[in-house]
Amino acid sequence: MTHKIAVLPGDGIGPEIIEQAVRVLKALDVSFDVKEEPVGGAAFDRYEHPLPPATLKLAQESQATLFGAVGDWKYDSLPREFRPEQAILGLRRSLGLFANLRPAILYPELANASSLKPEVVSGLDILIIRELTGDIYFGQPRGQRSAPDGAFAGEREGYDTMRYAESEVRRIARVGFEAARKRNKRLCSVDKANVLETSQFWRDIVIDVSREFPDVTLSHMYVDNAAMQLVRAPREFDVIVTGNIFGDILSDEAAMLTGSIGMLPSASLNSSNQGLYEPSHGSAPDIAGKGVANPLATILSAAMMLRYSLDLAGQADRIEAAVRRVLSEGLRTADIYEPGTTKVGTAQMGDAVIKALAA
Ligand code: NAI
Ligand code: MG
Repeated sequence: MTHKIAVLPGDGIGPEIIEQAVRVLKALDVSFDVKEEPVGGAAFDRYEHPLPPATLKLAQESQATLFGAVGDWKYDSLPREFRPEQAILGLRRSLGLFANLRPAILYPELANASSLKPEVVSGLDILIIRELTGDIYFGQPRGQRSAPDGAFAGEREGYDTMRYAESEVRRIARVGFEAARKRNKRLCSVDKANVLETSQFWRDIVIDVSREFPDVTLSHMYVDNAAMQLVRAPREFDVIVTGNIFGDILSDEAAMLTGSIGMLPSASLNSSNQGLYEPSHGSAPDIAGKGVANPLATILSAAMMLRYSLDLAGQADRIEAAVRRVLSEGLRTADIYEPGTTKVGTAQMGDAVIKALAA
């Protein structure tokens, strides 16, 4: 069976890190049909649009898309719809990618990379699942107007609408329970049910869905407490499922627990397990073209692609084990370098992962 994947390198370090991830995929004994198209600023330069029709079509026709990163300061003066970052939003929207999976893993070898104490974060391995297409970010109505009533009547105001439909909560809750089932069978749903009606509704539906997963232990936590617990005792969590705005904030907070943005993969999935896989970091224009970027977040994103969209968990395990191996051998790109380890460039890190795959 040949797996059709779209490769969208993008801007900045995107092409450099994607090249290494594709090399790693090709080193597996799996048959891939890999097609590449430009995205972001690179696509704007050629086609005057960050997400040209051919790029979108390729992503739609592929079971999975491996995405580098987009963005550069030189596009900052463009109207919003032409900015590189719009490509990600366009892909999410047109593929219906409603589930964002962000693991926060701190490899034991990198325990000092975190600004937190090793005894708090060493061995951290949690998964944050963020709903990506609903909530206050997309709710209508929204806008600015003259306040209609209340204490501020007549004054100008800005307003948004927080909302979730039942089917939206059910499907993201199921992604959470399924993921928990594949890990340690613990799921924590994060909301603000003490204050928000949307959150009380979210909680009721998550409890209802939990009846389909009697083997998974469900807990609930208010988002403010979750933000504290992530810093105090993050290893108490295993899988967290939450809405769009809370997930946006908590997943960035969790990323910082690991202290190494160059190590963090992500996945965004739709209901047919079609997915977009990208490192959590951006296009790092400050180091682009220098051959020093850390390709591991992208290589680990490729592993997530194998696990979640291509049903090749065994191959994903192989890549993750290879990454652990190169770290334990002491190889480090500049962003995770410490005295006593061996500094390598982007391509050398790719070489090392491929070599470790064979070992
Ligand atoms: P960034 O993540 O690109 O860079 C932040 C810092 O981390 C920089 O010092 C950079 O050199 C470093 N860094 C990032 N990835 C690294 C890697 N793989 N290896 C070594 N060091 C790495 O975030 P920043 O600087 O805020 O944004 C730069 C551009 O990226 C902007 O245009 C922004 O809009 C875009 N961006 C794109 C995203 C995406 O494509 N999904 C996500 C976030 C930002
Ligand atoms: Mg964010």
